[in-house]
Amino acid sequence: MKMYKNDFPLLVFDTNLAYLDSGATSQKPQCVIDAVSEFYARKNSNIHRGIYKLSENATIEYEGVREKVKRFINAESSEEIVLTSGATESINLVAGSLSKYRPWSNEEEKRPLRVLLSVAEHHANIIPWQLNGCELKTVKYDSDFRLDIENYKSELSKGVDLVAINHVSNVLGTVNPIKEIVDLAHGAGARVLVDGAQAVPHLPVNVRELGADFYVFSGHKMCGPTGTGVLYAKMELLDSMEPIIGGGDMVERVGFDVSEWTGAPWKFEPGTPNIAGIIGLGRAIDYLYDIGFDEIRKKEVEIGKYALEKISRIDGLRLYGPDTMTDRVAVFSFAFDGIHAHDIASILDERNIAVRAGHHCCMPLHDGFINQPATVRASLYIYNEKNDIDRLADGLEEVKKILK
Ligand code: ALA
Repeated sequence: MKMYKNDFPLLVFDTNLAYLDSGATSQKPQCVIDAVSEFYARKNSNIHRGIYKLSENATIEYEGVREKVKRFINAESSEEIVLTSGATESINLVAGSLSKYRPWSNEEEKRPLRVLLSVAEHHANIIPWQLNGCELKTVKYDSDFRLDIENYKSELSKGVDLVAINHVSNVLGTVNPIKEIVDLAHGAGARVLVDGAQAVPHLPVNVRELGADFYVFSGHKMCGPTGTGVLYAKMELLDSMEPIIGGGDMVERVGFDVSEWTGAPWKFEPGTPNIAGIIGLGRAIDYLYDIGFDEIRKKEVEIGKYALEKISRIDGLRLYGPDTMTDRVAVFSFAFDGIHAHDIASILDERNIAVRAGHHCCMPLHDGFINQPATVRASLYIYNEKNDIDRLADGLEEVKKILK
């Protein structure tokens, strides 16, 4: 199995670090760091507004990333790609816009948008709907940590405008059956927004095959810079949606009485964007393509199986997530009775093992399903090796000796 650690300067600099928090953010390969710094050192200028070569070239490079993202998720057109600061902004944009007007509804209703979430959504797929006065319902997960499809069908039949659901849970690691979810939703007259933040680093995503109406993700979990992200939406939806933030670079005409927006996707991108970051995101896509998603998945399954086997041997550890790598990514959340997650993470940190401890921005899942306020999460990516898992397992045995 090929090793990728050497592509990541931070992991070369700190060779002793077992970085197991890629669900929060991935490390960045040298090529992405170079793309960002090269932009500022050699190419820095604003886009869409300069009548000089430097600016025109920056525009071409920036818009080229829209095209790369289109291919990355197999959208029909690059105009279906809104470049944002992350999945959080993307969901806020959809929630803000749809709560004012539902393009697919004939009804001129003032009632709140009815949104069906799963209990495993992270806060970025809960709060934007609440802020916009939506009516929320949830679908359960079953004891195997899989979405309860019967419960989903039953909730759908009660009247739903939009299903907003994760592709991969950032706590459980479960991969949801998005195509089935979308087909059922469309059959019930609802649209679907998929939160792909934890999916795009691990799986090839084909929005046309999935049939998703909206698909959002962040760049920073897939080797790209922070402050970058994507909102994909079907063209007819983007066309009929209104922007929710305004500013320069999104307008055809501005007057004090009335202004006119430009077309999608640019009407959703006011102001100067994170140009260098988006160019870095384009380089991250190239990097992942160079490795290939078959290889990414193969490596993930191998190391994931190893982790599951090691973790299952630790007495007293309770894993919250499927116990095989089928329809699952290598994200492992767990707890020990009587030991607080933060204490575990602190002891692991003393051994230079970085894990996340807490509710992982999924408070409702911890309160209502996991039934404890905090878990420890080890989330893996292409640069992790079996040695990182061995160190985690040894560290956890140490924790038990110290705290039990
Ligand atoms: N959703 C991010 C995580 O899982 C913040 O860590």
